[in-house]
Amino acid sequence: MPVPVIKIENLVKRYDDLVALDHFNLRIEEGEIFGLLGPNGSGKTTTINCILSLLAFDKGTIEVFGKEMHPDSYDLKRQIGVVMQNVAVFDELTVYENIDYFCGLYIKDKAVRRQCVEEAIDFVGLSDFRRFYPKKLSGGLLRRLNIACGIAHKPKLIFLDEPTVAVDPQSRNRILEGIQELNRQGATIIYTSHYMEEVEQICTRVAIMDKGKNLAIGTTAELKRMIKKSEIISIDILDLLPEQLDAIRGLKHVYEASFENHCLKVLCSGGTHNLPRVLSYLQSEEVSFGRVYSELPTLNDVFLEITGKELRD
Ligand SMILES: Nc1ncnc2c1ncn2[C@@H]1O[C@H](COP(=O)(O)OP(=O)(O)OP(=O)(O)O)[C@@H](O)[C@H]1O
Ligand SMILES: [Mg+2]
Repeated sequence: MPVPVIKIENLVKRYDDLVALDHFNLRIEEGEIFGLLGPNGSGKTTTINCILSLLAFDKGTIEVFGKEMHPDSYDLKRQIGVVMQNVAVFDELTVYENIDYFCGLYIKDKAVRRQCVEEAIDFVGLSDFRRFYPKKLSGGLLRRLNIACGIAHKPKLIFLDEPTVAVDPQSRNRILEGIQELNRQGATIIYTSHYMEEVEQICTRVAIMDKGKNLAIGTTAELKRMIKKSEIISIDILDLLPEQLDAIRGLKHVYEASFENHCLKVLCSGGTHNLPRVLSYLQSEEVSFGRVYSELPTLNDVFLEITGKELRD
């Protein structure tokens, strides 16, 4: 088996009485875009800070590229790029100077560094803003600068902690495409978010976190297969009798059905042809219906079934 890029075993991190990470386990392989998905306060940033040895932890082990990480593991840190949740750039430096500063922590050769800074500016689409100071940048452009500062030295492992919070859709798409491009160029990515749509869009595997625990791990498709709900059918109907609703509840693979505001909602578990089965029952009863739609479960449904609450507050 290849050496995992990150291996965390039984990690416990307390902030006084609060257990922020509770016997947390994680294994990330080379080439992944790995998503840490969890609501506010679930422990995503704490996990990253422990991996980077920025925080001391109470129990457990962390290995990066097969080696134990310490605060002075500079050879490991050189291969790592970090884009922090809170934008961390110097207001006194321009876009170019900021990226040059952070890149300069790793790359001393001036010509090589200039090339890296130029590529990073180009990569995040800030060419027209290279002489701007951070205060003059919009939220989205500032986020892109934050990313450029974290990746200019071409790290093999990149942490991005909620890089799309409070950015406009254009910057968001640019950032998500950029992450995929970095991955194509060979970087392993750890990406935290509480937006399930983003995680579904770009991540190869996902860990669902809540209260410092890793509740489930797998590809999006695997996670969705773990839950009972496999299809959500909604049908607009003017009137449905209680006995008809009961009959629908008795149909194969149906485990829940409700009728509210002229909408029949049917939850199915497994099986195929669930929608035709429901429709043919309605036709047999001569119930006329309007709009019909069928949805597949989302990662929010997975979160909801595991924790009993919504991913978003
Ligand atoms: N320095 C600290 N001192 C005390 N408690 C902390 C500290 N940092 C984080 N916590 C607590 O630890 C828990 C995990 O926080 P963490 O920031 O890791 O969550 P998160 O998943 O990154 O959340 P968010 O989505 O809001 O960024 C939370 O309950 C938080 O309040
Ligand atoms: Mg966080």
